[in-house]
Amino acid sequence: MDAVWDLKPHTRAKHEILRRYLAAWFPILKTISRTGLNYIDGFAGPGVYSRGEEGSPLIALRTAVEHVLPMPDIDFLFIEKNTARAESLRRAIAERFPDLPDNFSYEVFNDEFSDVCCTILDELDSNDKVLAPTFTFVDPFGYAGFPLNLLRRLLTPPSSEVLVTFMASRLRRFLDESHEECIDELFDSQDWRVAQGLTGDDRTQFLLSLYQKKLIDSTPAEFVLAFEMVGRDGNTIYWLIFATKHPKGCQVMKEAMWKADPTGTYRYFDSAAGVRRFVLDEDDPEWARQAQAEVYNHFRGKRVPVEEIEDHVAPTTFLWRKRKILVPLEDTGKILEVHGRDRRRTYPDGCLVTFAP
Ligand SMILES: C[S@@+](CC[C@H](N)C(=O)[O-])C[C@H]1O[C@@H](n2cnc3c(N)ncnc32)[C@H](O)[C@@H]1O
Repeated sequence: MDAVWDLKPHTRAKHEILRRYLAAWFPILKTISRTGLNYIDGFAGPGVYSRGEEGSPLIALRTAVEHVLPMPDIDFLFIEKNTARAESLRRAIAERFPDLPDNFSYEVFNDEFSDVCCTILDELDSNDKVLAPTFTFVDPFGYAGFPLNLLRRLLTPPSSEVLVTFMASRLRRFLDESHEECIDELFDSQDWRVAQGLTGDDRTQFLLSLYQKKLIDSTPAEFVLAFEMVGRDGNTIYWLIFATKHPKGCQVMKEAMWKADPTGTYRYFDSAAGVRRFVLDEDDPEWARQAQAEVYNHFRGKRVPVEEIEDHVAPTTFLWRKRKILVPLEDTGKILEVHGRDRRRTYPDGCLVTFAP
Protein backbone atom coordinates (compact mmCIF):
# COMPACT_ATOMS: atom_id res chain seq x y z
CA MET A 1 0.00 0.00 0.00
CA ASP A 2 1.13 3.58 -0.65
CA ALA A 3 2.32 5.97 2.02
CA VAL A 4 -1.09 7.71 1.87
CA TRP A 5 -4.46 6.27 0.85
CA ASP A 6 -8.13 7.29 0.39
CA LEU A 7 -10.26 7.86 3.47
CA LYS A 8 -13.12 5.35 3.51
CA PRO A 9 -16.49 6.37 5.02
CA HIS A 10 -16.27 3.74 7.74
CA THR A 11 -12.84 5.06 8.73
CA ARG A 12 -14.41 8.50 9.01
CA ALA A 13 -16.99 7.03 11.40
CA LYS A 14 -14.23 5.40 13.45
CA HIS A 15 -12.39 8.74 13.62
CA GLU A 16 -15.54 10.46 14.79
CA ILE A 17 -15.92 7.94 17.60
CA LEU A 18 -12.29 8.48 18.60
CA ARG A 19 -12.69 12.26 18.50
CA ARG A 20 -15.83 12.20 20.63
CA TYR A 21 -14.37 9.75 23.09
CA LEU A 22 -11.19 11.77 23.58
CA ALA A 23 -13.17 15.01 23.84
CA ALA A 24 -14.81 13.46 26.92
CA TRP A 25 -11.79 11.52 28.25
CA PHE A 26 -9.24 14.36 28.28
CA PRO A 27 -11.26 16.67 30.59
CA ILE A 28 -12.40 13.79 32.82
CA LEU A 29 -8.75 12.82 33.30
CA LYS A 30 -7.81 16.45 33.96
CA THR A 31 -9.90 16.24 37.13
CA ILE A 32 -8.48 12.84 38.15
CA SER A 33 -4.81 12.80 37.25
CA ARG A 34 -2.18 14.94 38.94
CA THR A 35 0.58 13.60 36.71
CA GLY A 36 -0.78 14.42 33.25
CA LEU A 37 -1.50 11.70 30.73
CA ASN A 38 -0.25 9.82 27.72
CA TYR A 39 -2.00 9.26 24.46
CA ILE A 40 -0.42 6.47 22.44
CA ASP A 41 -1.36 5.89 18.81
CA GLY A 42 0.46 2.63 18.24
CA PHE A 43 -0.29 2.20 14.52
CA ALA A 44 -0.38 5.87 13.66
CA GLY A 45 -0.38 5.92 9.85
CA PRO A 46 0.72 8.88 7.68
CA GLY A 47 -1.33 11.55 9.48
CA VAL A 48 -3.32 12.57 6.39
CA TYR A 49 -5.38 10.83 3.73
CA SER A 50 -5.21 11.40 -0.03
CA ARG A 51 -7.43 14.50 -0.01
CA GLY A 52 -5.78 16.00 3.04
CA GLU A 53 -8.30 14.64 5.57
CA GLU A 54 -6.74 14.17 8.99
CA GLY A 55 -5.78 10.77 10.36
CA SER A 56 -6.02 9.58 13.95
CA PRO A 57 -2.87 11.33 15.33
CA LEU A 58 -3.99 14.74 14.06
CA ILE A 59 -7.52 14.09 15.26
CA ALA A 60 -6.21 13.44 18.77
CA LEU A 61 -4.03 16.57 18.72
CA ARG A 62 -6.84 18.74 17.34
CA THR A 63 -9.30 17.45 19.94
CA ALA A 64 -6.94 18.55 22.70
CA VAL A 65 -5.82 21.85 21.11
CA GLU A 66 -9.32 23.08 20.22
CA HIS A 67 -11.07 21.88 23.38
CA VAL A 68 -13.08 24.53 25.22
CA LEU A 69 -12.42 22.95 28.63
CA PRO A 70 -9.15 23.08 30.57
CA MET A 71 -6.83 20.34 29.36
CA PRO A 72 -4.35 18.26 31.34
CA ASP A 73 -0.68 17.93 30.33
CA ILE A 74 -0.66 15.37 27.54
CA ASP A 75 2.27 13.50 25.97
CA PHE A 76 1.29 12.23 22.54
CA LEU A 77 3.28 9.22 21.34
CA PHE A 78 2.77 8.37 17.68
CA ILE A 79 4.32 5.12 16.50
CA GLU A 80 4.55 4.18 12.83
CA LYS A 81 6.74 1.40 11.50
CA ASN A 82 6.76 2.49 7.84
CA THR A 83 9.38 5.20 7.24
CA ALA A 84 7.54 7.08 4.45
CA ARG A 85 4.38 7.21 6.60
CA ALA A 86 6.26 8.32 9.71
CA GLU A 87 7.84 11.14 7.68
CA SER A 88 4.46 12.11 6.23
CA LEU A 89 3.09 12.23 9.78
CA ARG A 90 5.94 14.44 11.01
CA ARG A 91 5.36 16.85 8.12
CA ALA A 92 1.59 16.95 8.64
CA ILE A 93 1.94 17.75 12.34
CA ALA A 94 4.59 20.41 11.73
CA GLU A 95 2.41 22.09 9.07
CA ARG A 96 -0.89 21.96 10.90
CA PHE A 97 0.28 22.41 14.48
CA PRO A 98 3.30 24.73 14.26
CA ASP A 99 2.74 26.10 17.78
CA LEU A 100 1.44 23.53 20.21
CA PRO A 101 0.40 24.88 23.64
CA ASP A 102 3.01 24.23 26.34
CA ASN A 103 0.97 21.56 28.09
CA PHE A 104 1.12 19.29 25.02
CA SER A 105 4.14 17.52 23.61
CA TYR A 106 4.48 14.86 20.95
CA GLU A 107 6.98 12.49 19.45
CA VAL A 108 6.79 10.44 16.26
CA PHE A 109 8.63 7.12 16.50
CA ASN A 110 9.51 5.40 13.24
CA ASP A 111 9.50 1.95 14.80
CA GLU A 112 7.30 -0.92 15.94
CA PHE A 113 4.57 -0.34 18.51
CA SER A 114 5.71 -3.14 20.80
CA ASP A 115 9.42 -2.19 20.66
CA VAL A 116 8.78 1.46 21.51
CA CYS A 117 6.36 0.69 24.34
CA CYS A 118 8.49 -2.07 25.86
CA THR A 119 11.55 0.22 25.87
CA ILE A 120 9.59 2.97 27.66
CA LEU A 121 7.99 0.59 30.15
CA ASP A 122 11.25 -1.24 30.89
CA GLU A 123 13.00 2.05 31.57
CA LEU A 124 10.24 3.18 33.92
CA ASP A 125 10.37 -0.19 35.69
CA SER A 126 14.11 0.02 36.18
CA ASN A 127 13.71 3.47 37.74
CA ASP A 128 10.82 2.31 39.95
CA LYS A 129 8.46 4.66 38.16
CA VAL A 130 5.02 4.03 36.74
CA LEU A 131 3.41 5.19 33.53
CA ALA A 132 0.93 8.08 33.81
CA PRO A 133 -2.73 7.28 32.90
CA THR A 134 -2.64 6.23 29.27
CA PHE A 135 -5.11 5.87 26.44
CA THR A 136 -3.75 3.52 23.78
CA PHE A 137 -5.25 3.34 20.31
CA VAL A 138 -4.31 0.15 18.45
CA ASP A 139 -5.40 0.43 14.84
CA PRO A 140 -3.48 -2.11 12.78
CA PHE A 141 -4.23 -3.56 9.36
CA GLY A 142 -3.81 -7.08 10.69
CA TYR A 143 -3.24 -8.96 13.93
CA ALA A 144 0.49 -8.83 14.42
CA GLY A 145 2.51 -6.60 16.69
CA PHE A 146 0.25 -5.98 19.70
CA PRO A 147 0.82 -8.84 22.14
CA LEU A 148 -1.64 -9.16 25.00
CA ASN A 149 1.24 -9.06 27.39
CA LEU A 150 2.00 -5.49 26.26
CA LEU A 151 -1.64 -4.40 26.54
CA ARG A 152 -1.57 -5.75 30.11
CA ARG A 153 1.35 -3.45 30.94
CA LEU A 154 -0.29 -0.47 29.23
CA LEU A 155 -3.52 -1.05 31.12
CA THR A 156 -1.80 -1.22 34.49
CA PRO A 157 -1.60 2.52 35.35
CA PRO A 158 -4.75 3.93 36.96
CA SER A 159 -7.46 5.16 34.55
CA SER A 160 -5.75 3.57 31.55
CA GLU A 161 -7.72 2.29 28.59
CA VAL A 162 -7.16 0.56 25.28
CA LEU A 163 -9.13 0.75 22.04
CA VAL A 164 -8.34 -1.93 19.45
CA THR A 165 -9.77 -2.17 15.94
CA PHE A 166 -10.08 -5.52 14.22
CA MET A 167 -10.73 -5.52 10.48
CA ALA A 168 -13.34 -8.19 9.85
CA SER A 169 -12.04 -9.37 6.48
CA ARG A 170 -8.70 -10.12 8.07
CA LEU A 171 -10.08 -11.83 11.16
CA ARG A 172 -11.83 -14.44 9.07
CA ARG A 173 -8.62 -15.37 7.30
CA PHE A 174 -6.03 -14.70 9.87
CA LEU A 175 -5.75 -18.19 11.30
CA ASP A 176 -4.77 -19.39 7.87
CA GLU A 177 -2.42 -16.52 7.13
CA SER A 178 -0.69 -15.67 10.35
CA HIS A 179 2.19 -17.34 12.09
CA GLU A 180 1.23 -19.35 15.13
CA GLU A 181 3.75 -17.54 17.29
CA CYS A 182 2.12 -14.18 16.48
CA ILE A 183 -1.35 -15.49 17.40
CA ASP A 184 -0.03 -16.99 20.62
CA GLU A 185 1.18 -13.50 21.52
CA LEU A 186 -2.09 -11.87 20.54
CA PHE A 187 -4.00 -14.10 22.98
CA ASP A 188 -1.11 -14.77 25.35
CA SER A 189 -2.10 -18.43 25.17
CA GLN A 190 -2.72 -21.26 22.76
CA ASP A 191 -6.46 -21.48 23.49
CA TRP A 192 -7.20 -19.94 20.08
CA ARG A 193 -6.27 -23.24 18.41
CA VAL A 194 -9.83 -24.51 19.06
CA ALA A 195 -10.86 -22.06 16.31
CA GLN A 196 -8.91 -24.05 13.74
CA GLY A 197 -11.71 -26.63 13.87
CA LEU A 198 -14.42 -23.99 13.33
CA THR A 199 -15.55 -22.14 10.22
CA GLY A 200 -17.41 -18.94 9.24
CA ASP A 201 -19.28 -17.02 11.93
CA ASP A 202 -18.58 -19.67 14.57
CA ARG A 203 -14.87 -19.14 14.14
CA THR A 204 -15.20 -15.36 14.25
CA GLN A 205 -17.42 -15.38 17.33
CA PHE A 206 -15.14 -17.79 19.13
CA LEU A 207 -12.07 -15.65 18.50
CA LEU A 208 -13.79 -12.42 19.51
CA SER A 209 -15.18 -13.92 22.72
CA LEU A 210 -11.81 -15.44 23.54
CA TYR A 211 -10.07 -12.10 23.00
CA GLN A 212 -12.55 -10.34 25.29
CA LYS A 213 -12.13 -13.05 27.92
CA LYS A 214 -8.35 -12.83 27.77
CA LEU A 215 -8.48 -9.05 28.17
CA ILE A 216 -10.62 -9.43 31.28
CA ASP A 217 -8.74 -12.40 32.76
CA SER A 218 -5.17 -11.44 31.92
CA THR A 219 -5.11 -7.64 32.15
CA PRO A 220 -6.29 -5.13 34.78
CA ALA A 221 -9.26 -4.18 32.54
CA GLU A 222 -12.55 -4.76 34.33
CA PHE A 223 -14.88 -4.07 31.44
CA VAL A 224 -14.46 -4.99 27.81
CA LEU A 225 -16.89 -3.90 25.14
CA ALA A 226 -16.82 -5.34 21.63
CA PHE A 227 -18.79 -3.50 19.01
CA GLU A 228 -19.31 -4.79 15.56
CA MET A 229 -19.71 -2.17 12.89
CA VAL A 230 -21.96 -3.36 10.10
CA GLY A 231 -22.50 -1.58 6.79
CA ARG A 232 -25.89 -1.16 5.14
CA ASP A 233 -25.19 -4.24 3.03
CA GLY A 234 -25.10 -6.30 6.23
CA ASN A 235 -21.40 -7.02 6.04
CA THR A 236 -19.24 -6.50 9.08
CA ILE A 237 -16.54 -3.90 8.48
CA TYR A 238 -14.67 -3.99 11.73
CA TRP A 239 -14.88 -4.55 15.43
CA LEU A 240 -13.96 -2.00 18.03
CA ILE A 241 -12.75 -3.58 21.23
CA PHE A 242 -12.58 -1.25 24.18
CA ALA A 243 -11.02 -2.17 27.52
CA THR A 244 -11.39 0.01 30.59
CA LYS A 245 -11.34 -0.22 34.36
CA HIS A 246 -14.26 2.05 34.95
CA PRO A 247 -17.99 1.80 34.12
CA LYS A 248 -17.95 5.48 33.21
CA GLY A 249 -15.54 4.67 30.36
CA CYS A 250 -18.09 2.23 28.90
CA GLN A 251 -20.81 4.82 29.11
CA VAL A 252 -18.74 7.52 27.44
CA MET A 253 -17.71 5.14 24.65
CA LYS A 254 -21.31 4.15 23.92
CA GLU A 255 -22.34 7.80 23.83
CA ALA A 256 -19.44 8.56 21.46
CA MET A 257 -20.71 5.87 19.08
CA TRP A 258 -24.26 7.08 19.24
CA LYS A 259 -23.34 10.69 18.63
CA ALA A 260 -20.88 9.77 15.88
CA ASP A 261 -23.72 8.32 13.88
CA PRO A 262 -27.18 9.13 15.24
CA THR A 263 -28.80 8.67 11.83
CA GLY A 264 -27.82 5.02 11.84
CA THR A 265 -25.80 4.82 8.64
CA TYR A 266 -23.85 2.16 10.39
CA ARG A 267 -25.21 -0.35 12.79
CA TYR A 268 -23.34 -1.29 15.88
CA PHE A 269 -23.85 -4.60 17.56
CA ASP A 270 -22.67 -5.74 20.90
CA SER A 271 -21.28 -9.15 20.07
CA ALA A 272 -20.69 -10.19 23.67
CA ALA A 273 -21.55 -13.77 24.55
CA GLY A 274 -22.34 -14.53 20.94
CA VAL A 275 -25.55 -12.48 21.04
CA ARG A 276 -25.83 -9.81 18.38
CA ARG A 277 -27.95 -6.94 19.58
CA PHE A 278 -28.43 -3.43 18.34
CA VAL A 279 -26.65 -1.04 20.59
CA LEU A 280 -27.87 2.30 19.61
CA ASP A 281 -31.44 2.24 18.43
CA GLU A 282 -32.49 4.53 21.22
CA ASP A 283 -36.09 5.06 20.09
CA ASP A 284 -36.81 1.40 19.57
CA PRO A 285 -39.43 0.34 22.21
CA GLU A 286 -37.83 -3.10 22.25
CA TRP A 287 -34.54 -1.53 23.32
CA ALA A 288 -36.27 0.14 26.26
CA ARG A 289 -38.12 -3.06 27.24
CA GLN A 290 -34.88 -5.05 27.27
CA ALA A 291 -33.11 -2.39 29.32
CA GLN A 292 -35.98 -2.28 31.84
CA ALA A 293 -35.99 -6.09 32.17
CA GLU A 294 -32.23 -6.13 32.68
CA VAL A 295 -32.41 -3.52 35.44
CA TYR A 296 -35.43 -5.03 37.19
CA ASN A 297 -34.07 -8.59 37.12
CA HIS A 298 -30.79 -7.43 38.57
CA PHE A 299 -32.15 -5.20 41.33
CA ARG A 300 -35.48 -6.80 42.27
CA GLY A 301 -36.10 -6.71 46.02
CA LYS A 302 -33.21 -4.28 46.59
CA ARG A 303 -32.88 -0.68 47.62
CA VAL A 304 -29.98 1.02 45.84
CA PRO A 305 -28.63 4.49 44.99
CA VAL A 306 -29.43 5.52 41.43
CA GLU A 307 -25.68 5.67 40.72
CA GLU A 308 -25.48 1.90 41.31
CA ILE A 309 -28.10 1.36 38.60
CA GLU A 310 -26.13 3.63 36.28
CA ASP A 311 -22.92 1.65 36.92
CA HIS A 312 -24.76 -1.58 36.25
CA VAL A 313 -26.11 -0.36 32.91
CA ALA A 314 -22.77 1.16 31.79
CA PRO A 315 -21.01 -2.02 30.59
CA THR A 316 -24.17 -3.46 29.03
CA THR A 317 -25.49 -2.87 25.55
CA PHE A 318 -27.86 -0.19 26.75
CA LEU A 319 -27.43 3.55 26.84
CA TRP A 320 -28.03 5.15 30.22
CA ARG A 321 -31.32 6.95 29.60
CA LYS A 322 -32.61 6.86 33.13
CA ARG A 323 -36.11 8.17 32.50
CA LYS A 324 -36.66 5.74 29.63
CA ILE A 325 -35.57 2.88 31.82
CA LEU A 326 -36.92 3.83 35.25
CA VAL A 327 -40.24 5.64 34.57
CA PRO A 328 -41.93 2.56 33.01
CA LEU A 329 -40.65 0.40 35.89
CA GLU A 330 -42.20 2.83 38.36
CA ASP A 331 -45.46 3.12 36.38
CA THR A 332 -45.84 -0.67 36.39
CA GLY A 333 -45.11 -1.04 40.11
CA LYS A 334 -41.68 -2.61 39.71
CA ILE A 335 -40.16 0.37 41.45
CA LEU A 336 -41.96 0.78 44.78
CA GLU A 337 -40.37 3.89 46.20
CA VAL A 338 -37.81 6.57 45.42
CA HIS A 339 -36.32 8.34 48.41
CA GLY A 340 -34.59 11.71 48.03
CA ARG A 341 -36.48 13.47 45.25
CA ASP A 342 -38.87 16.42 45.07
CA ARG A 343 -40.86 15.43 41.99
CA ARG A 344 -42.48 12.18 40.90
CA ARG A 345 -40.89 10.24 38.05
CA THR A 346 -37.50 11.86 38.48
CA TYR A 347 -34.29 10.18 39.67
CA PRO A 348 -31.79 12.82 40.81
CA ASP A 349 -28.24 12.00 41.90
CA GLY A 350 -28.15 10.51 45.36
CA CYS A 351 -31.75 9.23 45.40
CA LEU A 352 -32.46 5.70 46.67
CA VAL A 353 -34.58 3.43 44.50
CA THR A 354 -36.53 0.50 45.99
CA PHE A 355 -37.43 -2.31 43.58
CA ALA A 356 -40.37 -4.67 44.10
CA PRO A 357 -39.44 -8.26 45.00
C1 LIG B 1 -4.82 1.21 9.69
S1 LIG B 1 -3.33 2.09 9.50
C2 LIG B 1 -3.46 3.33 10.72
C3 LIG B 1 -4.42 4.42 10.42
C4 LIG B 1 -4.47 5.52 11.45
N1 LIG B 1 -4.63 4.97 12.80
C5 LIG B 1 -5.61 6.47 11.18
O1 LIG B 1 -6.73 6.22 11.68
O2 LIG B 1 -5.41 7.48 10.52
C6 LIG B 1 -2.13 1.04 10.24
C7 LIG B 1 -0.70 1.60 10.22
O3 LIG B 1 0.10 0.81 11.08
C8 LIG B 1 1.41 0.71 10.51
N2 LIG B 1 2.05 -0.47 11.15
C9 LIG B 1 1.94 -1.77 10.79
N3 LIG B 1 2.58 -2.56 11.68
C10 LIG B 1 3.07 -1.74 12.65
C11 LIG B 1 3.78 -1.95 13.88
N4 LIG B 1 4.10 -3.17 14.29
N5 LIG B 1 4.09 -0.88 14.64
C12 LIG B 1 3.76 0.37 14.25
N6 LIG B 1 3.09 0.63 13.09
C13 LIG B 1 2.74 -0.40 12.31
C14 LIG B 1 1.15 0.63 9.03
O4 LIG B 1 2.30 1.05 8.31
C15 LIG B 1 -0.03 1.57 8.86
O5 LIG B 1 0.40 2.86 8.53
